[in-house]
Amino acid sequence: MSQNVQRLRGTKDLYGDEARQWEKLEAAAAAVFTRFGYEPIRTPILEPYALFSRSVGEITDIVQKEMYRFTDRSGDEVAMRPEGTASVVRAYLQNNLSQERPVRKLYYAGPMFRAERPQAGRLRQFHQIGAEVFGSASAYTDAETMAVLAELLKAAGIAKFRFEINNLGSSGDRAAFGGVLVKFFEGKESGLCKDCQTRLGKNVFRVLDCKNEACRALAADAPLISDHVSDASKADFKLVQALLTDLKLNWSHNPRIIRGLDYYTHTVFEVKHDGLGAQDALGAGGRYDGLVETLGGPATPAVGFAVGVERLFLAAAAETAGAAPAAQPRAGVAIAALGADALRGAFAIAHALRLAGITCHMDLDARSLKAQMRQADRSGARYAVILGSDELAKGAAAVKDLSVSDAPQAEVPLAGLVDFFKQRSN
Ligand code: HAM
Repeated sequence: MSQNVQRLRGTKDLYGDEARQWEKLEAAAAAVFTRFGYEPIRTPILEPYALFSRSVGEITDIVQKEMYRFTDRSGDEVAMRPEGTASVVRAYLQNNLSQERPVRKLYYAGPMFRAERPQAGRLRQFHQIGAEVFGSASAYTDAETMAVLAELLKAAGIAKFRFEINNLGSSGDRAAFGGVLVKFFEGKESGLCKDCQTRLGKNVFRVLDCKNEACRALAADAPLISDHVSDASKADFKLVQALLTDLKLNWSHNPRIIRGLDYYTHTVFEVKHDGLGAQDALGAGGRYDGLVETLGGPATPAVGFAVGVERLFLAAAAETAGAAPAAQPRAGVAIAALGADALRGAFAIAHALRLAGITCHMDLDARSLKAQMRQADRSGARYAVILGSDELAKGAAAVKDLSVSDAPQAEVPLAGLVDFFKQRSN
């Protein structure tokens, strides 16, 4: 016998209740975004490699170590997207989305790919729900972005989350601070890992989020970027903080947040949850005022975020641990047919019910009545319709309410079945 093919490490199959919960969450997220004036966007999973090296950054772990990158059959360098922001910026520019309105608010959901070491809450194919706003430099837009993120988490059944925010300043502030950091690490090079020794000359910010213990110890004393930003950026960051307080969001200033992607400017944030263990970030985001220009567009302020869907479910489960799962109310109809003629009649009835908008389950393989009734029970249907040769002769089916044990069977004329269930379907 040949061996079964197994799914790849760090990927998941979703089915049953879990798959249903995902659909519910995606629908709830769409409703939240719509309330805040966002519109949906869908972009390809495959993108040119250069899109991510130019935006996320050449000297980042995502691009250097984690991206699924290959040369396709026509010789093009492509990548499976590791995140959504770069793709949405590309689509915004390529489709001239700035033309219709000065401010464009977009949301998306879908799979992202990073070849990380899999562990709880960390996958190689994971899913993000995210949002990006183009064309507004206002601190109010930063606060609104965090407000929609908070509503999204609440819609996912999560209450105990907190925002950690920081200010990275303008691109100019960042560049100047880069010089300050390089000075700080001067003479300390030998204490850094090999990767960080290279990073020093190429992208000193990435030394600050190196996971190596020795690098972390050295970086702990490094100067803080939020102390080195312009007065205008400081004032904006103060306003963001005041607005978050007005919105009653749980936030604190964490001056060590630097973010592992290079495109950020000014306000950045991470949303943490204590039920997640080591991978405690439910989501993250911030302002990226230089990225549209970096990717060839006009100077356009922008801000956004993404949450990890798998982590949302882990956090929601941690909050409801111990609580009995909510019982699913029975709904719809299951038809049991006995004999060839009844099967044919029941097949037509099932179709009519479905066209009328009623969920209908039916066994098409002529199993025993007992087997069909067991299936009807498992299907979660509220009503069972039994159709045999006697019922066919009478022109009426036996209907049983499966939500009540020992409920008497009702006799419903075949011609009136659709109306009977329509009246009872809500
Ligand atoms: P990020 O911090 O790289 O930001 O990812 C956002 C979220 O995606 C994380 O907080 C986490 O919940 C989830 N995530 C990331 N990697 C994994 C993984 N390997 N397994 C499971 N979940 C993961 C971004 O991607 C930015 N594009 C966010 C953004 C949007 N900034 C502005 N706009």
